[in-house]
Amino acid sequence: MQDYLHRSIDLDDPAIADTFDELSLWSSHFGRLMVTHVPLKHHQKVLDVGCGNGFPLFELAHMMGPTAHLTGLDPWEPALARAQRKKAAYGSANIDLVLGDGAEMPFDAAQFDLIVSNVGINNFADPEKVLAECHRVLKPGGQICMTSNVAGHMEEFYEVFADALKELGFHDFLPALERQIAHRGSVEGIILRLEASGFEVTQVVEDHFVMRFLDGSALLRHWLVVVGFLDGWRSVIGKKNETAVFARIEEKLTQLAEHQGELKMTVPMVFVKGKKG
Ligand SMILES: C[S@@+](CC[C@H](N)C(=O)[O-])C[C@H]1O[C@@H](n2cnc3c(N)ncnc32)[C@H](O)[C@@H]1O
Repeated sequence: MQDYLHRSIDLDDPAIADTFDELSLWSSHFGRLMVTHVPLKHHQKVLDVGCGNGFPLFELAHMMGPTAHLTGLDPWEPALARAQRKKAAYGSANIDLVLGDGAEMPFDAAQFDLIVSNVGINNFADPEKVLAECHRVLKPGGQICMTSNVAGHMEEFYEVFADALKELGFHDFLPALERQIAHRGSVEGIILRLEASGFEVTQVVEDHFVMRFLDGSALLRHWLVVVGFLDGWRSVIGKKNETAVFARIEEKLTQLAEHQGELKMTVPMVFVKGKKG
């Protein structure tokens, strides 16, 4: 029963937005890189682009203390509503939450000392425009800190996906799978993007983490996979063939888990810091 293929996720449903609190278990790996390397100074004006439910915005606010002022920007209304409720609970007077698009920021030029974005850049429809806006709203000498997952993530899954396609004779879908894999961008790609937007890249930290799943059935129904990855994977093969392909993927992943004891998916990630000259 491929129940996960029949769920439709309404991101405008506040209850769905609330579940993204738990997705900070995914974001937290990137957030750890962010909180480890983000510059801490007094009186910083900070912008978090793509703040979602407020991670790591609130954590950064707690770390930076009352002299900092932080603004979270996101176009996703229910997530921002969730962040508003948390802001009230925290009683944070030095945080603003702004509904808006990073590609057209509702801010004057040269407003911020620091811009952060945790697992944002892969999710922006127009990352170049968002970076151009980041450059515009940063003060001269201001810094930008981004984290992202990069190409190579969950390569164990993509190997199984490719093998399943080959076994089923769907070789024609392999180029689309390659494009899906490359879509995440590389470390070099992110650095080049920042440089092309006028930033001098001053620090790059690469790391990885491992996601564990009991078997293929658990992986394909994991909430992060359902809301964050499944649509992209389905787009590789199209509706007509997805039942057969996902059945084979699930079976192969479960065989692999039986062989290894569990499924392990590696997620390479990067923290990049840049400076506006
Ligand atoms: C993977 S989530 C990360 C959320 C949060 N920073 C975290 O670490 O959990 C990506 C976020 O980027 C936001 N986003 C997508 N497009 C955006 C845009 N054009 N401008 C600003 N935020 C955007 C999404 O709404 C979502 O909240």
